[in-house]
Amino acid sequence: MTVITTIEDLRVLAEKRVPRMFYDYADSGSWTEGTYRANSADFQKIKLRQRVAVNMENRSTATRMIGVDTKMPVALAPVGSVGMHHADGEIHVARAAEKFGIPFTLSTMSICSIEDVAEHTKAPFWFQLYVMRDRQFVERLIDRAKAARCSALVLTLDLQILGQRHKDLKNGLSVPPKPTLRNWINLATKPNWCLGMLGTKRRQFGNIVGHVKGVADMSSLTEWTSQQFDPRLNWGDVEWIKKRWGGKLILKGIQDVEDARLAVASGADALIVSNHGGRQLDGAQSSIEALPAIVGAVGSQIEVHMDGGIRSGQDVLKAWALGARGTYIGRAFLYGLGALGEAGVTKALEIIHKELDLTMAFCGHTDIHMVDQRILLPGTFPVA
Ligand code: GLV
Repeated sequence: MTVITTIEDLRVLAEKRVPRMFYDYADSGSWTEGTYRANSADFQKIKLRQRVAVNMENRSTATRMIGVDTKMPVALAPVGSVGMHHADGEIHVARAAEKFGIPFTLSTMSICSIEDVAEHTKAPFWFQLYVMRDRQFVERLIDRAKAARCSALVLTLDLQILGQRHKDLKNGLSVPPKPTLRNWINLATKPNWCLGMLGTKRRQFGNIVGHVKGVADMSSLTEWTSQQFDPRLNWGDVEWIKKRWGGKLILKGIQDVEDARLAVASGADALIVSNHGGRQLDGAQSSIEALPAIVGAVGSQIEVHMDGGIRSGQDVLKAWALGARGTYIGRAFLYGLGALGEAGVTKALEIIHKELDLTMAFCGHTDIHMVDQRILLPGTFPVA
């Protein structure tokens, strides 16, 4: 087996091991996928300034995100259906994050339920909320997250309706996969995945199935989302959700300075500059391009985080230099999980941490808190 040294190595392995429809679900953006590609490509355009003859001993990438200690400014993003990439996926990922010392965010659309993840981990995790039409269900979800001692609520604001991802429609994405000939043929090439799935009961959306009346069948994920997610979600809802939750609140999906100001006015603790991994509004700016204007406008009033396109520790450092006080990785850890289970997630975190640590040193710093825009070559990075 090849020695794994990059997130790309993990992606290649995951592509071989994860059933096509779930691999495609992760590795896609909406429509032309232009924003999806730009999220990563725009990081590549930013050049670093090499500094030499600086003492590089005793380096630290440790910081805090919304007051939570983290070994590096990276948290695990909420990702749907993680438990379809590997049996009991969310539990493996949460454990890897806990051992590594970074925050894990559980998606509303996870396979393992909130209670299940809480039972199998020690560190409090963050819970991502989707707002459904059934408000009582949303209230119960918030209460369940509180009961599970989740230490932050991540409210997603950019997915009341679903961006179209062509591959999901063509693949007939469903959880679990339907017993079609095409699926059988594909699953026959994924023996480890099949064995894992046969050995677990966690094969449906654990936070939903059994908790919402009439939801036993999620056979068409796209259809289900369009029926259940609330297209009316607005800033008034942020207010009652914040009140009901009563704890740390992070607003996810901010791309525009005006929305960033509204996020500050809402009293949230942090916002995430995000275009949902290029999965919603295709044609939107990449996250790293949108970041500086938002940091410039509200960075002193709210903690600004970002996600989208991060595939290396260098990307994390560039986002930090442009003012993000935290970043999130989604696909990068998911590829690790699909490739090698919990060990693969740990591998992804080690890769990113090492890249971050060495790059910081080559740029002349030993403490991440001393890193700012001056490590970037003028003219190569986006400005406010
Ligand atoms: C859901 O979060 C999705 O992007 O599919």
